[in-house]
Amino acid sequence: MNQTTHRVGVVGGDGIGPEVIAEALKVARAAGVDLSTVDYDLGGARYLRDGTVLTDEIVDEWRGLDAILLGAVGTPEVPPGVIERGLLLKMRFDLDLYVNQRPFTLAATDPDRQLDFIVIRENTEGTYAGEGGFLRKGTPNEIATQGSVNTRFGVERCVRYAFELAQSRPRKHLTLVHKTNVLTFAGDLWQRTFDEVAVEYPDVDTAYNHVDAACIYFVESPQRYDVIVTDNLFGDILTDLGGAVSGGIGFASSGNLNPDRTGPSMFEPVHGSAPDIAGTGKANPIAAILSAAMMLDFLGESDAAARIRKACADPTALADTTAAFSTEDIGDAVAARL
Ligand code: NAI
Ligand code: MG
Repeated sequence: MNQTTHRVGVVGGDGIGPEVIAEALKVARAAGVDLSTVDYDLGGARYLRDGTVLTDEIVDEWRGLDAILLGAVGTPEVPPGVIERGLLLKMRFDLDLYVNQRPFTLAATDPDRQLDFIVIRENTEGTYAGEGGFLRKGTPNEIATQGSVNTRFGVERCVRYAFELAQSRPRKHLTLVHKTNVLTFAGDLWQRTFDEVAVEYPDVDTAYNHVDAACIYFVESPQRYDVIVTDNLFGDILTDLGGAVSGGIGFASSGNLNPDRTGPSMFEPVHGSAPDIAGTGKANPIAAILSAAMMLDFLGESDAAARIRKACADPTALADTTAAFSTEDIGDAVAARL
């Protein structure tokens, strides 16, 4: 057993966030990993209480951590954008979490129906970079623009990460997803960068899909995919669909990675705070548990991560468990299987 102590910042957040994170930490510790955690009370509830979203002082504190584990942030009472831009996007930008990695797996008895693919979403640029603004706001002649920022540097480091990942997997296959036929400026930069980096990875097979076609393939034949690399907005939308076709949003995990390791990476389930089921014990903690497994992989605890994934992957046991038991029961069941 590896006895390194990992310092992890924990943002349970709102709604079901703290409920699923409690199970994720329980499972990680049951796997024999030594975690020293620091709790951060952030999210919609904190904002409503004292106006704090995320301060520069907290971000500076985080720079000294090994990783951050986040449940979900946001409540219906907070206006749109406050938490998303002020907390989640600020984390991504300030900590340079430029890769958003979202794996999708579905164990099925019919091998033709088994899924195992990973979406690499660029996480700091595109339409999320905050470029744009209002002119004549609130008047009949109002104009709002929201530009897409694509730098050669930002695209290339993301594409390169995706090629490295594809090369490390048995199928060695990478698909670029974009909309190059209409977004002829951004799409051209992405395609050229992709093609140029591809020359350095001759053993990786490549493909290209327009994002609208990719939506069809996600539903009809997702087995075709191994690794996908795509822009920020396309990746956001496509990964919700990925969750829907691979068992549901209760199973979708993610990592917001700083692959250069100049600071901590952040791991979180793809789902939100689910205010409709908060406090009922109905939240599926598997997405948070798998996010913690991804964190452990990143921290070098690959043996513990593999054991956790295996404990979550027994399809028959899980189908029974998620239907019949509470959030805590599922966490206990996974921990007991380790
Ligand atoms: P949501 O993911 O919270 O919920 C969508 C639906 O999925 C709901 O019916 C919910 O009950 C269900 N669901 C979600 N997670 C589940 C789980 N683990 N087990 C079982 N069912 C689950 O998305 P929604 O409703 O759009 O957003 C709710 C709040 O969460 C909003 O304030 C939103 O801004 C925030 N949010 C935060 C995210 C984050 O922290 N990264 C991501 C998405 C939304
Ligand atoms: Mg989303």
